[in-house]
Amino acid sequence: MAERLRDNRKTEEIRAKVRETELQVANFIYPLFIEEGDNIKKEIVSMPGIYRYSLDRINEELDEVVALGIKSIILFGIPLNKDADGSESWNDEGIIQKAIRHIKSNYPSLLVIADVCFCEYTDHGHCGVLCDHDVDNDLTLVNLRKQVLAQAKAGVDMVAPSGMMDFAVKEIRDELDKNGFEKILIMGYSVKYCSSYYGPFRDAADSAPSFGDRRTYQMDPANRNEAIKEAQADVDEGADILMVKPALSYLDIIRDLKNNFDLPIAAYNVSGEYSMVKAAGNNGWIDEQKVMMETLLSIKRAGADIIITYFAKEAAKILNKNEQ
Ligand code: PBG
Ligand code: ZN
Repeated sequence: MAERLRDNRKTEEIRAKVRETELQVANFIYPLFIEEGDNIKKEIVSMPGIYRYSLDRINEELDEVVALGIKSIILFGIPLNKDADGSESWNDEGIIQKAIRHIKSNYPSLLVIADVCFCEYTDHGHCGVLCDHDVDNDLTLVNLRKQVLAQAKAGVDMVAPSGMMDFAVKEIRDELDKNGFEKILIMGYSVKYCSSYYGPFRDAADSAPSFGDRRTYQMDPANRNEAIKEAQADVDEGADILMVKPALSYLDIIRDLKNNFDLPIAAYNVSGEYSMVKAAGNNGWIDEQKVMMETLLSIKRAGADIIITYFAKEAAKILNKNEQ
């Protein structure tokens, strides 16, 4: 006999008892843009509420993050000097290495994750070493080892290779273990699509490719079976966490990974997804806070255990208030 399904929706008490998904502040990872220089706090025009900070002002942001109970951050660096190989990314005095040391000594409770890629560091804006106008996979792997080792020596807790190079996780795991950094985790950007939703991030991180696009390394948005292969490769190579990116147009992929793999699944609620909600909110076209919470909930319901999101602070404020 068919149930009266509305019975379980009658009051908030009942709804709370039968609720299947709940967001927690502990699910969030908050991205931070750190620019080389002094006295910088510059709002990113296409991402209202998100700033680039120089290291001397980053505590303003970190104090707030810690006070809100956010425990994990992922770092993106904007160096002063770029070159063809992105060599600043493995300089021990480079911006991210300095940032890691600063944060780990001043905020020891924070889990510090470093994005591992070259597009912010190369003068051409591609995610690795160029050869015949394309990124050469294996030459890039050599430099990936250097970048990760520099971050490891600085004290990073987790590294997250985002360049979609084949065998990146394997090479990184090997380099870390060989140097006594067995405890550093790897979160693979396992399934990263070639997405137009990254537009605002490229303003934020100054990382747009100067020619062409990233279609020879990032995945075709049309492909679903390939996502399983990419994730399986990261599992085989030793990843600790698998990621799907972007999140919203790829909720099916998040669910596929959740159903097929035992590792924790992360989803990156990317810059364009953030900007669209902000733009509509600022115009008064949607209830921004409610759409934000519904969006984050949908990502978790799809199967993400971890959500990387520019909304982390705002969502934490709401969740903390609900707890009281
Ligand atoms: C760098 C990188 C990108 C993002 C995270 N790491 C951009 C890109 O691949 O062009 C996108 C994040 C976002 O849009 O919020 N490889
Ligand atoms: Zn990149």
